Amino acid sequence: MRISVIGCGYLGAVHASAMAELGHDVVGIDVDERKISQLAAARPPFFEPGLPEILESATASGRLRFSTDIAAAAEADVHFIAVGTPQQASGYSADLSYVDAAFESLLPHLRHGALVVGKSTVPVGTAARLANRLADAAPHAALAWNPEFLREGFAVKDTLEPDRLVYGVASDGHVDATSVLDHLYRAAVEAGTPRIVTDYATAELVKVAANAFLATKISFINAMSEIADASGADVTALADAIGHDARIGRRFLNAGVGFGGGCLPKDIRAFTARAEELGVGHSLAFLKEVDQINLRQRQRVVDLAVAALGGSAYRKRIAVLGVTFKPDSDDVRDSPALDVAVQLKGLGAEVVATDPEGVENARRRHPQLEYTTSIDEALADADLVVLATEWRDYRTLDPADAGRKVATARIIDGRNALDPAAWRAAGWQYRGIGRP
Ligand code: UGA
Repeated sequence: MRISVIGCGYLGAVHASAMAELGHDVVGIDVDERKISQLAAARPPFFEPGLPEILESATASGRLRFSTDIAAAAEADVHFIAVGTPQQASGYSADLSYVDAAFESLLPHLRHGALVVGKSTVPVGTAARLANRLADAAPHAALAWNPEFLREGFAVKDTLEPDRLVYGVASDGHVDATSVLDHLYRAAVEAGTPRIVTDYATAELVKVAANAFLATKISFINAMSEIADASGADVTALADAIGHDARIGRRFLNAGVGFGGGCLPKDIRAFTARAEELGVGHSLAFLKEVDQINLRQRQRVVDLAVAALGGSAYRKRIAVLGVTFKPDSDDVRDSPALDVAVQLKGLGAEVVATDPEGVENARRRHPQLEYTTSIDEALADADLVVLATEWRDYRTLDPADAGRKVATARIIDGRNALDPAAWRAAGWQYRGIGRP
């Protein structure tokens, strides 16, 4: 099929490449000239495992092109809207200006029978509003909402082999959106991937409900970690034990510095704002608590660091391992790790932050910190080490070896990613989150 993907960020660039990989003819469009010229040269503008390979093969095959000109979408029959919906500068609502601008710019280029497919995470009601606009401006085209569940770090696999497909379609559609999407995702559909066809509102809600549930799960275990700290229990053993209950499940029950990134934090806030607009704010009041618990975790890690240093971080050299919001990503948006590093710096510490992929992005946001990509340089003469993002390189550090590099062997394991017994045996003063 001939496809356009509007917005070539973490979502759109992967989606465009994966669709071309599946054999479709794709044009990726973005207003950012730098991004487009990098993608056109088969260089991903961000770190995502597996993306360089499919981008390379798809551009080489001629099935994937990039443009900054929305008119390049005119040839396509299916148009994905994959632009960002960040938190508004003032308030908790989602900023829909990118979605609206992409949609409006596309209208003059829609062929007869074209299908516009929303992928961006939007407040419930957005699709119905856009469908009304389409009915006026381009009645020969149709709209579907097809939320995306990809995780950064696994984005390519999640796009090529999704665990479910959700199509929000119009009940009286003159374009058979379900058949078009089935054809597009034929490989996944034929592999038996669960597929839910529903109305617009449900499709929009599925996405934010999923992220709200995941955020709640993480904040739940972080709340348990506070109780564990207050009572001398071990939150990791607790998570293992409750996780054996299939109704609960062990995944997303890792206590630590909390969730961040471009999705979970802003999605729960936009969801509460939308619920309030709908007059049912009380239904999601608990998500404010989820947000509070999450933000408190950052403060807890800072407090633990200060306590480990004997009450003051002033002029102490602190190595912060990890700045990205999760491993296998270079994304530092709303990163708890970077937040902790910045707060420690604010307390007068000499912070040296390291990360395998995130240093460049972190430096752009917080140039006041000292950065290195070398773990050894970060550890050198440190009075304290804070593990803030559980990259494999940090999880597999040898405590004896690391102990020889630092000034004092003290570590705060902000992700409960290390074996406390092994680190203590190697002479480290070890402190995890909710672990005795
Ligand atoms: C999240 C969802 O998992 C995806 O399904 C969704 O498609 C995506 O948002 C989106 O809306 O686009 P992502 O932001 O890539 O994906 O990251 P997650 O893997 O969900 O991790 C989010 C944060 O939670 C990270 O900071 C991670 O470190 C933290 N986390 C995760 C924990 O603190 N504990 C856990 O047990 C799991």
